[in-house]
Amino acid sequence: MPPVQSVHFPAFRASLPSMGGRTVVITGTTSGTGRAAAQVVAELGAKVLLLNRASSRSEASLADLKAAVPGADFHPIECDLQSFASVKSAAARVHELCPEGVHVLCNNAGVMALPDQATVDGFDVQMQTNHLSHFLLTAELMPLLEKAAGSAGEARIVNHSSVARFAPSKTLLAEFLEKRGGDLGGDGNAFQNALFRGPRWLRYNQSKLANCAFTAALHHRLATTGSTVKALVAHPGFANTQLQHTTAKAGGMGSMFTSFMMRFSQSIEDGAMGIISCMCLPQAASGEFYGPGSGQASLKGEAKPFALEGYYDNPETRDLLWEKSCEATQCEFQIP
Ligand SMILES: NC(=O)c1ccc[n+]([C@@H]2O[C@H](COP(=O)([O-])OP(=O)(O)OC[C@H]3O[C@@H](n4cnc5c(N)ncnc54)[C@H](OP(=O)(O)O)[C@@H]3O)[C@@H](O)[C@H]2O)c1
Repeated sequence: MPPVQSVHFPAFRASLPSMGGRTVVITGTTSGTGRAAAQVVAELGAKVLLLNRASSRSEASLADLKAAVPGADFHPIECDLQSFASVKSAAARVHELCPEGVHVLCNNAGVMALPDQATVDGFDVQMQTNHLSHFLLTAELMPLLEKAAGSAGEARIVNHSSVARFAPSKTLLAEFLEKRGGDLGGDGNAFQNALFRGPRWLRYNQSKLANCAFTAALHHRLATTGSTVKALVAHPGFANTQLQHTTAKAGGMGSMFTSFMMRFSQSIEDGAMGIISCMCLPQAASGEFYGPGSGQASLKGEAKPFALEGYYDNPETRDLLWEKSCEATQCEFQIP
């Protein structure tokens, strides 16, 4: 299939401010939206820490980024989001490399509709990769975010969600945040169950709902303490990345169906505008959600801000998310 052309990205890219003097940490830059965002912030002058699990993809994407932005200040750090130990050692490395603090943490990496498997820590592979490890990483980097906010006036935590936050369930369920990996519904896929329903998709939905509930919980907690660290969330609509192909290889969708469906996607860069907006736009405020619209059919278009939504931005869901995530990661998430 020929590459999907960007529609909105060129004008958006031209409007972005300098990121000189800013330190950006981003997960999942071997392909897709993370790769695109890492390149943009490096071009804008930021120091960029690339957190990826070890692989030939990681090595190739680093070489590719260095070629795309000669002289950029890239720092690769090994970080496997399926392991809390790996996340902790990556965070320790960020502390060593960033005495100046961290201005932007972008929790981008993700997987979709994988089989019902436990990580080495015993949690669902999707929930740990997409949310729990990012929760732990954020907790570990909070002192650096506060430090940068103290000197620069603000810092940002950016989470990456999906239109899948809506369905099949709008309710965050405790069991998906518990040590029940491999025992959360089985491997029913998009064809064995109603399209994009069934257990693989419910686990993805829960992890993407958790990204939003985490943003809402952070936003309220940070505001209560008077912190100038912002919490934001984005979604890319439907973007032409590796996500769906990884799902197809893991049996979550048919590969012919996936190839056909991808014809209707938007470009990687257009899909990355949500996280890049949250990371870079001066006017992006804590508690905002950027994406190509707030509805379930918002799959393409310019990234625009909208408000966090009530089905996760409520006291019960925010507290559930926080308590279960602290319990799972065994961390006390301190917001000064
Ligand atoms: N594309 C879409 O249409 C779409 C729609 C809604 C939401 N999203 C969200 O967008 C985000 C980025 O995904 P993408 O679309 O850009 O897909 P992608 O091209 O597959 O990129 C995903 C990134 O996550 C990384 N990753 C996966 N598992 C990891 C692990 N255990 N440790 C460290 N890194 C890991 C991948 O690295 P490896 O090379 O090591 O696998 C890759 O760099 C995800 O959070 C996804 O849920 C995408």
